[in-house]
Amino acid sequence: MKVKGIPTRTIWPLRADGAVGIIDQTRLPHRYETVELRTLEDAARAIADMLVRGAPLIGATAAYGMALAIRDDASKARLSEAYKVLHATRPTAINLRWALDEMMGVLKPLPEGDREDAAWARAAAICDEDVEICRMIGVHGMDLIREIAERKDGPVNVLTHCNAGWLATVDWGTATSPVYHAHDEGLDVHVWVDETRPRSQGAALTSWELLNHGVPHHLVTDNSGGLLMMRGMVDLVIVGTDRTTASGDVCNKIGTYLKALAAKDNDVPFYVALPSPTIDFRLDDGIDIPIEERSPDEVRWVPGLTRDGDISEVLICPEGTPAANHAFDVTPARLVTGLITEKGVVEADKSAIARLFPERVAA
Ligand code: MRU
Repeated sequence: MKVKGIPTRTIWPLRADGAVGIIDQTRLPHRYETVELRTLEDAARAIADMLVRGAPLIGATAAYGMALAIRDDASKARLSEAYKVLHATRPTAINLRWALDEMMGVLKPLPEGDREDAAWARAAAICDEDVEICRMIGVHGMDLIREIAERKDGPVNVLTHCNAGWLATVDWGTATSPVYHAHDEGLDVHVWVDETRPRSQGAALTSWELLNHGVPHHLVTDNSGGLLMMRGMVDLVIVGTDRTTASGDVCNKIGTYLKALAAKDNDVPFYVALPSPTIDFRLDDGIDIPIEERSPDEVRWVPGLTRDGDISEVLICPEGTPAANHAFDVTPARLVTGLITEKGVVEADKSAIARLFPERVAA
């Protein structure tokens, strides 16, 4: 995908320089800046501090982090150390562990001298696979949008939460891929973009993406979804996920659950765009998913652009106010209309998911 001259790959190898390029997403939407990661620590920091974020991109960055880690020492001990450091960065997105396991599976059996080349190759393949998975999610998800477009006048209104766009993946995005495909096919689609406090991924990132792509959209506050659904202003909800259990419980950005409840109460279809690496076949019950708790300062301080054009933060509560910052919540499978995967749309149900991905269940 290419938008207004901005290449939409979020991560790229610069192997000749011993580096990996990323977009610093903490600077968007006000500045488009790229950063070079050169060490294991750079990669770990980029994930933990959310220069890169979104489950698939976290996995892709960790894969390249392994390649950077073994440049001077490709011993088994170094591999294990790199795995540990990267795995400790963020606890919820399962793509992180999935990508690290993929890397270990390829690298461990090889002689030390072959590991570096293999690491760069596998990391690149993980990225290419992600692009194809997200493209196919778009193809299948577009059918849902088309079905609605065929039976109504005016735009198909999609509500999304957080940023499950191309910035959260290697390209295309998951929840946004159906929207981009539909828009590019000429379907009339409009997106309600939840602001997504406290990090404002909707306001900062999804709005930026949709604006650059020319997709009609409105930014709304996090509490607007219920009213919009009650008034018939939402045709379907599509969100991403950081980890979905084998039985279809969906963990995603905090606030997703409340949107699912409102959708259920208003008979609005609630879909989750789900790349298969985001399925955790080791877990059945969403209650067992570790929920990341981030700094309370992310709740207290809001970053933005000042009228002088500087990026700055403002305090929005009395100094010293205690705050809690749970980054994700879990939507039970019973509230999910369907999962849009790269292999098609499937019910959020254990046997249905297992039938679609038998190779993953066996692994
Ligand atoms: O905290 P973030 O920005 O990493 O959270 C991102 C999300 O919750 C996304 O919806 C999810 O990772 C899916 S990205 C395709």
